[in-house]
Amino acid sequence: MRITVNRKAHFNAAHRLHRKDWDDETNEQVFGKCSNPNYHGHNYELVVAVTGNIDEETGFVMNLKDLKKLIYDKIEVPFDHKNLNVEVPEFKELNPTAENIAVVIWEKLRKELASHLDLEVTLFETPRNFVTYKGE
Ligand code: NI
Repeated sequence: MRITVNRKAHFNAAHRLHRKDWDDETNEQVFGKCSNPNYHGHNYELVVAVTGNIDEETGFVMNLKDLKKLIYDKIEVPFDHKNLNVEVPEFKELNPTAENIAVVIWEKLRKELASHLDLEVTLFETPRNFVTYKGE
């Protein structure tokens, strides 16, 4: 029996969508307001879903106290109140779209979780725009 536990988290961050190898006009055309050279912010909402079997001893898929700490240490501390383009090394050469941020979050968490657990990450950039990634 596989069952999924979810943990919500939140961070505020600034970003700019931009390709250095494109001229300003092309960046503006593709990324619109999100290419503003002065950056802009989002209130990101994160849902981390971990799927596995219920441990017979604990009754848990995983201890949510551990998942909370993992998300805090690996995602919230490095991302919250940061300029993603400037201050987060993963986005130095990678456009910080919601898609790419979700993949980076998934990769950071995946390596910390036991291999028998499945991981899915949902990232809301706005209340209406969100992406999901499960490593496929
Ligand atoms: Ni944006």
